[in-house]
Amino acid sequence: MKIPFLRPSPPALSDHVERLRQIEQSGIFSNFGPVNSAFERAVVGQLFVGQGACVAVANATLGLMLALKAQLPTRQKPGAFALMPSYTFAATAHAALWCGLTPLFCDIDPATWMPAAASEEQLLREYGSAISAIIPYATFGAALDLERYAALARRHSLALVVDAAASLGTRDHQHRNFGTGFSYPLVYSMHVTKTFATSEAGLVYSSDRTLIDKIRTMANFGFGQPRHTTMPGLNAKLSEVGALLASLRLADFDALVDRRCRLYDRYRQALPDFEFQAPTAARQVHQFVPALVPAGAVDRRDGIIAALATLGIGAANYFSPHLAQQAYFRETCSSGPLTETNKISARSLSLPLSDTLSEGQIDDVCRALRAAVRD
Ligand SMILES: Cc1ncc(COP(=O)(O)O)c(C=O)c1O
Repeated sequence: MKIPFLRPSPPALSDHVERLRQIEQSGIFSNFGPVNSAFERAVVGQLFVGQGACVAVANATLGLMLALKAQLPTRQKPGAFALMPSYTFAATAHAALWCGLTPLFCDIDPATWMPAAASEEQLLREYGSAISAIIPYATFGAALDLERYAALARRHSLALVVDAAASLGTRDHQHRNFGTGFSYPLVYSMHVTKTFATSEAGLVYSSDRTLIDKIRTMANFGFGQPRHTTMPGLNAKLSEVGALLASLRLADFDALVDRRCRLYDRYRQALPDFEFQAPTAARQVHQFVPALVPAGAVDRRDGIIAALATLGIGAANYFSPHLAQQAYFRETCSSGPLTETNKISARSLSLPLSDTLSEGQIDDVCRALRAAVRD
């Protein structure tokens, strides 16, 4: 049996040689060229019902940095914090650190695994105006309560960036893509391991066109005038070949998401002793299948992953260690109490998912997993 944890399957460029030739003949390879512009228009039209604007960037990490920096004062007060969960990927904390902010980790909700409101509000009371930004993560493709974050940002004068890395394609309860019409920026990843698989790419979306225009300028060295820097900047532009991959993915994306939802449900039904993330969306995009091992098997979580590996089944443990447990972030970040984060992280087991995984393979994985938990 050979079932990898993830099996990236971006659109096959070799099937689209004519489109590649058109890029070569245009002589435009980057710098927000025509393929990039067409993709941005198409993604706003198809996923965000034509509302708002977006800028495609080279990856979501750069997107987070830009979306955050765009809201910070030119001269930032030293020692300012960015509030975020510890139960997220390294990129969230790195983005804040590159912007000169110190990540301050809050706890998560034990059911949704997203930042816990009570923990965020406690830290906001405790740290007061020392917190300059909040970066909630929509965990594993879930949908956050965005209006609550907008109210928090207004009340505490915070920069707000939503890390929606895995949530492109997730539909909220109004059946719109998560984030549609929201004025603060959301950042989605189109990395090859995400459901919206390209190679390396990210997307920053907001209903605020002026903010997106600013982020676009910042992504091009802050050139507000021809080769004249008027604001902070770096190079985060997506190449035309990268934009072609994104356009091709957009064409078949919806069917891929729906198929992954059916596969996810099959796992849930076959593993009644495991806990799964409480749903927060009308349709959640699934990159892989995160679960919690039964309470009695927590001490054996790593052994279970090893037992699956001997059978050729890839599994992982996102996010374990969580950020506050990682060496560099222990040195550079601050943290509130992380009681639920520690518990969820210790039980986390991430199971295989891909566009090519079959239902029979899921049954094989679940059979092997139930046996490994019993042993
Ligand atoms: C929560 C989170 N934020 C940000 C990123 C960064 O995305 P990218 O790889 O496109 O830079 C990831 C990538 O996996 C992620 O999981």
